[in-house]
Amino acid sequence: MHNLGIAITGSGSALPATSLDNQTLSRLVETSDEWITTRTGICQRRLASPTDSLSMLATSASTQAIASAGITAADLDLIILATSTPDDLFGSACKIQANLGATKAVAFDLTAACSGFVFGLVTAAQYIRTGAYQNVLLIGADILSRWVDWQDRRTCVLFGDGAGAVVLQANESDRLLGFSLHSDGTQNHYLNLAYQASDQELLPDINIAQGTYQPITMNGKEVYRFAVQRVPEVIDKALFKANLSIDQIDWLLLHQANQRILDAVAQRLNIPQHKVISNLANYGNTSAASIPIALDEAVRQGKIQLNDTIVASGFGAGLTWGAAIFQWGR
Ligand code: ACO
Repeated sequence: MHNLGIAITGSGSALPATSLDNQTLSRLVETSDEWITTRTGICQRRLASPTDSLSMLATSASTQAIASAGITAADLDLIILATSTPDDLFGSACKIQANLGATKAVAFDLTAACSGFVFGLVTAAQYIRTGAYQNVLLIGADILSRWVDWQDRRTCVLFGDGAGAVVLQANESDRLLGFSLHSDGTQNHYLNLAYQASDQELLPDINIAQGTYQPITMNGKEVYRFAVQRVPEVIDKALFKANLSIDQIDWLLLHQANQRILDAVAQRLNIPQHKVISNLANYGNTSAASIPIALDEAVRQGKIQLNDTIVASGFGAGLTWGAAIFQWGR
């Protein structure tokens, strides 16, 4: 008889070595440290070098997560890579599987932008709850620096690169207490990394379209409004499913998009500042990677301790948003 509960038993993270601070960035676009810090809370971000790859960063975060869970790569049954920026459009999870030597694991990519980690967590949990798999590696990783327009000051100041990973294991008691996920494609146009193509005539009467992905476009005000409204709502839904009240939460772990969003959500939910995990000053918005990087840092700093109750919420392009409540460790 399998254990059908879920525990998150290890974490890891990896960041590229190159750091770009606001002051230096203002040499590239017309902006200032003052504008960026007051509007976003971001002071610097890490950027992947031309020799870095998404699968390398993800592999290094995964190696740490596997070690801290006390298992080996050979124990893994499943690898889910949440990313919007794979090295290969066919997916990068299998490359990571090979890098790790996780020969038994099935591996695939999952795309849900900045909600990718939370969507991946819930996806991974379903395989464990059905008894199909026991040991799952979930990675959130993105290299958005390769997809922003570095001439567009409205977007390029916001993003950074990185990877974070966790190991989920089948467990006697279920530590995933509740979740809620949502999508609304009618608002898709607010945040895009869209393919743009021009018609090409292959043969008479047979046309195809070839092109490339265009840099990120975003309606900042609408995304802000969406996040501040939907995130508290979805957290309330997850709390209801977990049968918990907000004061039973030890840590608010939001997608690190913008300090103003973190503050507004915490305020709406009546969560005191000391329970809000924030590291975006150092890394900016790392998309699918932001929650697992912040989680891993907080665990390694001894902030998050065994049995602490965490509410994680991701939100972003799609539009997608979701929340998951879990207790740390077995
Ligand atoms: N430096 C200096 N000035 C700037 C910059 C910049 N980097 N960017 C914009 N401005 C200017 C604009 O041109 C505008 O000037 P104007 O009034 O002369 O036209 C002025 O600043 C105000 O611009 P707004 O876009 O109205 O600025 P706003 O107050 O809305 O702040 C921000 C912009 C920070 C992006 C805000 O809208 C926001 O936080 N939105 C949420 C975005 C977000 O978090 N996205 C990611 C979440 S989803 C995901 O993670 C993928």
